[in-house]
Amino acid sequence: MKLALISAIVAAGVLSVGVARANPELSKSAGCVKCHEIDKKKKGPAFQESAKKYKANPDAEGAMFKSIMDPKGDHPEMKATPDEVKAVLKWVKTL
Ligand code: HEC
Repeated sequence: MKLALISAIVAAGVLSVGVARANPELSKSAGCVKCHEIDKKKKGPAFQESAKKYKANPDAEGAMFKSIMDPKGDHPEMKATPDEVKAVLKWVKTL
């Protein structure tokens, strides 16, 4: 029983590392890189700029999400699902 619990914890750790690694890749498959680069302005601001802008915000991810998903905002429409956008933003705020 104890062993099963430990394996479950280890498995969860491995899984979360997998997700964290997937985030930069997701910015490609989700189409963000068409308009964004990490350290240079393209059509949209550099991801590092956005990370800086929202650094002081304890909910940086949520605030960025709201900003770019707001239908009345300036962000162009995206093909990515909300879950994909969130996963990418989780990575962006660490840049
Ligand atoms: C068709 C081009 C385009 C695509 C695709 C795109 N963006 Fe953007 N993005 C922009 C532009 C233009 C802006 C500047 C306007 C704005 O801030 O809303 C921007 C701004 C942003 C900002 C800054 C928002 C703020 O409040 O400062 C973030 C964060 C962002 N995009 C994330 C993403 C993510 C994540 C994806 C992929 C899921 C993505 N973008 C896909 C063009 C794009």
